[in-house]
Amino acid sequence: MFGSPRAWETPNPLAGRVAARLKCRRPEVDTADMQEIALSDVIGALSHALDIAEGQPQGHAVRSCLIGMRIAAELDLSAEQRSDLFYALLLKDAGCSANANRMSILFDADDREAKATSKLIDWSDRRSAFLWSLRTVAPGAGLRRKIEVLRGISDEGDVTRRFMEARCDRGAEIARMLFLSEGTATAIRSLDEHWDGKGMPDGLLGEEIPLPARILCLAQTMEVFYATGGIRAARKVAKQRRGRWFDPTLVDAFLNFTDDREFWASMETPDVSEWEPQDLALIGDDARLDRIAEAFARVIDAKSPFTARHSERVAEIADGIADVLGFDAGERRVLRRAGLLHDIGKLAVSNRILDKPGKLTDEEFEAVQTHPVHTLRILERAPCFAELAELAANHHEKLDGSGYPRSLTAAELDLPMRVLAVADIFEALTADRPYRGPLPAQEALAIIDRDVPHKLDAEVRRALAIHIARESEPASQSAVAA
Ligand SMILES: [Fe+2]
Ligand SMILES: [Fe+2]
Repeated sequence: MFGSPRAWETPNPLAGRVAARLKCRRPEVDTADMQEIALSDVIGALSHALDIAEGQPQGHAVRSCLIGMRIAAELDLSAEQRSDLFYALLLKDAGCSANANRMSILFDADDREAKATSKLIDWSDRRSAFLWSLRTVAPGAGLRRKIEVLRGISDEGDVTRRFMEARCDRGAEIARMLFLSEGTATAIRSLDEHWDGKGMPDGLLGEEIPLPARILCLAQTMEVFYATGGIRAARKVAKQRRGRWFDPTLVDAFLNFTDDREFWASMETPDVSEWEPQDLALIGDDARLDRIAEAFARVIDAKSPFTARHSERVAEIADGIADVLGFDAGERRVLRRAGLLHDIGKLAVSNRILDKPGKLTDEEFEAVQTHPVHTLRILERAPCFAELAELAANHHEKLDGSGYPRSLTAAELDLPMRVLAVADIFEALTADRPYRGPLPAQEALAIIDRDVPHKLDAEVRRALAIHIARESEPASQSAVAA
């Protein structure tokens, strides 16, 4: 799709000039190492992004994984069942961003805050649920406004069920996209079903709920209460909800190891890889790592209606520019993955800010400016993505030091970083927005030109223009040339 054979017939004046700069401060891509990455390390690291999107302390999914896998060990489940469960536990919140925007609007509240506190509520208890709603909607507003918001929620009908459905469906879809087992996907789909049939989204009853999903429900709840009130709080909730939320057999299995100090001490520095069934341990080859980056790009872009395909398009545009500039296949792969993941830190920012129609306050703008820092922290955790963490995290930096968050300057920004910065801006300008249509490419280039060369790289800008010209060539011309 990037460039036609006809375009290649013209010698590329940029490719030679940039070749030396291409290697600037970038670590070599060791493809041999990348072919043997344990999938558990990658998914475990990226699960931290899902934690922050859910408003949970980082490591929530990993710690839930330890608890769930320990329950599976108590029950002596087969290696296949434990493998399904393992990835379901790590990816249980993969659908978290699917309802963030709607929830933030409907509750007039910070979606991450609302999601975090909702985890501590017993939804079967109508009084608790009502009091939580009253506390959560329109925080800081008077009673009149809160009641108005609650009425709005009530008018929406079965809103909680639809929130859960969107989230569960998207989570299962992400698991399937990663070619994980159907057992993993259905466990994620049903993780909020309750033993007494009062869960969501389908109201499944007892053993109608897949066993891994029942374990997910118990493990994630135990982690939340353990994190906030220690093992006593977790034990108490397990007993209170035994036979209501939770399968009684699973609660008994959980209670079996609540006195195991060594296990609970391991929650401080959890190592999930120890819990993956070794015979079935999944390996992340390059194709699978690409797929993981694509799947997480969907999670990121689902966060806001303003960014429907932003990450995917940034990756495509950056790759098109890289093609023009003569990057080799390994360098393009790194850049493409960085494009897909550059905004992963946005999962840490409330939709109340990201989707705000008016001007942001200074405080809100500061919150937005933290997202590249979160991107860096998250990607650094994944061994195979650590090499692109800096690249992805510097997409808002400018050559004259006026960018954020670190105000880096030209000497510190290598060519791939400059490519990503231009691709990010061009995508934003040419994307459809609720308040305006997509700007034509030439208009977007003219806007970019205002910042060239003091903020944005001139050669990258020229390469972008060549890429756009290639893209706009009629398909028939390409076919003839081919
Ligand atoms: Fe960004
Ligand atoms: Fe972006």
